[in-house]
Amino acid sequence: MLKLADVKSTDVVYDLGCGDGRIVITAAKIYGAHGVGIDINPQRIHDAKENAKKAGVEDLVRFEENDLFKANIRDASVVTLFLLQKVNLRLRPKLLKLKPGTRIVSNTFDMGDWKPDKEETLKTGDSEHGLGLSHQIFLWIVPPRDQK
Ligand SMILES: C[S@@+](CC[C@H](N)C(=O)[O-])C[C@H]1O[C@@H](n2cnc3c(N)ncnc32)[C@H](O)[C@@H]1O
Repeated sequence: MLKLADVKSTDVVYDLGCGDGRIVITAAKIYGAHGVGIDINPQRIHDAKENAKKAGVEDLVRFEENDLFKANIRDASVVTLFLLQKVNLRLRPKLLKLKPGTRIVSNTFDMGDWKPDKEETLKTGDSEHGLGLSHQIFLWIVPPRDQK
C-alpha cells in the first residue's frame, strides 16, 4: 500500500483505523515519513504506541484514540484504509476535502463510483503451500477542487 502511494520522507501518512499501527510504523521506519494512526479502540492505540516504541520511530508517529469520522486529518498527504466498503463510502466526502494530490490507498474495499487511479492485486502469505492470500489494493488521487 505504501509503495502504491509512492510514500516519501516528506509525506504525512494517516491510517484511519490503524489497528496495531503497522502501516504508519512501516512508513516511518522504511520511508522516514511522519505518520498518524487513528483508532476507536483504546487497546489498539495502546498496542500501536508500544509497537512504535519497539520500532524506534516514536519521534515520527503519533496515535490518537478517536472516531475516524471526527478526527482532523487535514494535514494528510497519504491516507491508508482497511475498513469496509460502506465505511469508505461514508468517508468519501471527508477525503475529497483533503488537499488536491493527496493519495488514498484502500486494502480490499473500493469507493463505489469514484474509480481508482490505480489498482493492484497483492499476493501475500505462503503461496508455495497453497496458503497464499490475494488482496486487491486501490489508489485514488484527490482531484483539484473544480473537478470534484
Ligand atoms: C481491519 S483493521 C485495520 C488495521 C490496520 N489499518 C491495518 O491495515 O493493519 C480495522 C481497524 O479499524 C478500527 N475502526 C473501525 N471503525 C472505526 C472508527 N469509526 N474510527 C476509528 N477506528 C475504527 C478498528 O478498531 C480496527 O482496529
